[in-house]
Amino acid sequence: MNKASTSHTADAATKDVYILAIETSCDETSVAIVKNGKEVIVNHVASQIETHKAFGGVVPEVASRQHVECITLLIEQTIAESGLQAEELDAIAVTEGPGLVGALLVGIMAAKALAFALDKPLIGTHHIAGHIYANQLVEEIQYPAIALVVSGGHTEIVRLEREGRFQVIGQTRDDAVGEAYDKVARSLGFPYPGGPHVDKAAQASDTATPLPRVWLEEGSYDFSLSGLKSAVLNVVNQSRMKNEEVDSGSIARGFQDSVVEVLVAKAVRAVHEYGGKQLLLCGGVAANGGLRKALQASCEAQQIPLVIPPMKYCTDNAAMIGAAAYVKWTHGEFSDLFIKGEPGMSLEAWSVQ
Ligand code: KG4
Ligand code: ZN
Repeated sequence: MNKASTSHTADAATKDVYILAIETSCDETSVAIVKNGKEVIVNHVASQIETHKAFGGVVPEVASRQHVECITLLIEQTIAESGLQAEELDAIAVTEGPGLVGALLVGIMAAKALAFALDKPLIGTHHIAGHIYANQLVEEIQYPAIALVVSGGHTEIVRLEREGRFQVIGQTRDDAVGEAYDKVARSLGFPYPGGPHVDKAAQASDTATPLPRVWLEEGSYDFSLSGLKSAVLNVVNQSRMKNEEVDSGSIARGFQDSVVEVLVAKAVRAVHEYGGKQLLLCGGVAANGGLRKALQASCEAQQIPLVIPPMKYCTDNAAMIGAAAYVKWTHGEFSDLFIKGEPGMSLEAWSVQ
């Protein structure tokens, strides 16, 4: 994020701060207005899932076009429903990255135009910081905190030593969890996005196909999902070659048990090692029933306060971007009008000064 010198000063202590936030990093167009980084005034999400279903995944060019089609209307609608005048907004926040560059640019151009026209500060915001700060919409985050980020594009364990300071202590070396779920789902014949189908099948199955646990080196907080995914494909292919019925429930359960066991163990270990006061779960895969149950049980047993935002704030939405942007607001850190989409944007570099 480029730092801009600006006449706008952080004045959070004396006045309510209203941030209009825009999220267009992937296949959801979303606009929200968030008060003081915590209270969602309006949060609109226009999902493109139905469109992309036909292709079995997100088609970047199609995503960009759909963002263009609905962004202006969504901004107008959000401001109208908030009961605020546009002039009363304090800042415009937008996802700057990571994401699909063409999709990001649609939101960024709209945000720049709005910030310029209204003479309000612009806050380019990191998408994963948004997923993490979705937790602030439910509960005051206590620092140091550990966040487990599990989405279609990301799998990370992030340490927040204090507000707005991010340290990625572990991440996937290949596929993201959601991505692996979607690929396994496809091999089992479930429609896109397949994560919820695999979850449902896994929870309904009493048997679990034995599959490896991928721990990597001792002490590592990294993940690797591609070997496990290949192991699933092997089981499916072998059954097909032998003309045996593919037991999708058992395979889904075996896959889910393996993924969940490693995610939970590493996240909980990180909380202990770094003295985390809370474990924050975030990203679309936070919807996973097996993961929620296992995390809840493990955190309860070890007396770790666990925060899980409601589903509408776990999947991509602009309210979470408004919550993260507020942190920058309170530190008086704004962007200039030259920001562009950053597909590989670093979370650590986005930390407050
Ligand atoms: O965070 P998100 O909405 O979008 C990204 O930023 O990636 O996550 C979407 C991902 C998809 O891969 C989807 O299959 C997965 O989350 N997902 C699930 C479940 N619900 C959604 N994966 C496993 N179990 C679920 N119940
Ligand atoms: Zn996301």
